[in-house]
Amino acid sequence: MERQQEAWSGRTVFILAAIGSAVGLGNIWRFPYVAYTNGGGAFFVPYLVALLTAGIPLLFLDYSLGHKFRGSPPLVFRRLHKRAEIIGWWQVGISFVIGVYYAVIVAWAIRYFFFSFNEAWGSDPATFFVNDFLKQDDDATFALGFVPGVAFPLLAVWVLTLAVLVFGVQKGIGATARVFVPLLIVLFGVLVVRSLFLDGAGAGLDAFFQPNWSILTDPTVWIAAYGQIFFSLSVAFGIMLTYSSYLGRKTNLTGSGLVVAFSNSSFEILAGIGVFATLGYMANISGVAVDEVVESGIGLAFVAFPAIISSMPGGALFGVLFFGALVIAGFTSMVSIIQVCVAAVEDKLGIDRIHAVLGVGGVSAVISLLLFPTVTGLNVLDVVDNFANNIGIVGVALVAIAVVAWALRRLPDLENHLNSVSSFKLGIAWRLFVGVVTPAVLAFMLITEIVERIQDGYGGLPSGLVVTFGWGAQILVIVVAVLLSFTPWRRTEVELEHSEPTKAGENL
Ligand code: ALA
Repeated sequence: MERQQEAWSGRTVFILAAIGSAVGLGNIWRFPYVAYTNGGGAFFVPYLVALLTAGIPLLFLDYSLGHKFRGSPPLVFRRLHKRAEIIGWWQVGISFVIGVYYAVIVAWAIRYFFFSFNEAWGSDPATFFVNDFLKQDDDATFALGFVPGVAFPLLAVWVLTLAVLVFGVQKGIGATARVFVPLLIVLFGVLVVRSLFLDGAGAGLDAFFQPNWSILTDPTVWIAAYGQIFFSLSVAFGIMLTYSSYLGRKTNLTGSGLVVAFSNSSFEILAGIGVFATLGYMANISGVAVDEVVESGIGLAFVAFPAIISSMPGGALFGVLFFGALVIAGFTSMVSIIQVCVAAVEDKLGIDRIHAVLGVGGVSAVISLLLFPTVTGLNVLDVVDNFANNIGIVGVALVAIAVVAWALRRLPDLENHLNSVSSFKLGIAWRLFVGVVTPAVLAFMLITEIVERIQDGYGGLPSGLVVTFGWGAQILVIVVAVLLSFTPWRRTEVELEHSEPTKAGENL
């Protein structure tokens, strides 16, 4: 499908869709915990540095690639250089892997939305989550024992995601974002204001904002900040690149990017405030310190929150709002993740959207439904998520930058492109951040992470599981990327070499 047939109707809908993609599970369940474990208030320093030196510069890079070369990642990288197509498929592969488990967390949130009405988790939300709801088998490393309570909402998530994608970029993704993003802001706004009026909210906020400056010398804190920014902004794994390929030729790219990036971070900080005010309340009623009620990412949303909801007057409504917000935030991100894969298949095979959605969606949904609603699904998800984020995204971002900035030396070109259409002009600082600072940090992150995973495994989980779903999945993505890059395009050489002119007179 050519890009002019599939397009956003305007800049506002693009910005809403991009915010819908950026604001997701990463903001609501991941950020508060990551910030807390990495120095609380002091985490804002590395977080802000990571946002300004890597997040926003890479967002601009994604926009420039998608907008100038007008395609999904494989087509964009193919247009950059014949052999660079592999990088595009690698990004698509990472989106695919993230999509198959991301849907599962959205499915859990849907069930918890309904559980909230009668606080179905009872007096022990931790046991309820792991044993009653997910039906995890502690003795098995990997088993396909089916858990219908997760499988049915998961099937619903897939059907809804594919239904949105079938309607296309503007009528599907755009229309969904127009409704869901404002709704999310209202829901979350109500939730945060309510949380600030809870007894003990102040203590929670103190715990969140009290800086622990000594932590700034710890490299893992910096790694956590950069990792959080990449995932949260949806950069470096194809999403923003794909979304920007559907923009009109004369669109203010950097201006839009700044709106998206600051909206995402504002939402993240708002989520941190809401979550910690609520944890402060929990600490207050249980008579313990706030750090004793903080749980890890998944636990925070599905274990600590249910406990809090049960103890709160009008808790059911709070639960409905919280899990409703989680579902909406997760769903609009889910749509963007799968769109990367759909667009890639459309471009490569020259097939129409509906067939691409059904093909790609069908395969991802089957894998997702086979692996995760099972008695070992929680551990599998944990491993896949960790490796996709800390090794997959970091690895592909590093290679993409090395190729675009160093091997092909295209940054000046891309900078000109951005400046020719945008209000906020870029200069040498952008090239320095993208070409030097970010890759240095990424290389450090990647090496540290790989060494740690080889030495320590992951989370005390059985090595078979880590090797198969951690290393195995990431290696498989690269192998498939190489194979796909050798399969023929159903396009003429001319179409492959030349993107459409991006502004009058400019051709590649
Ligand atoms: N950016 C999305 C999130 O934060 C993927 O969840």
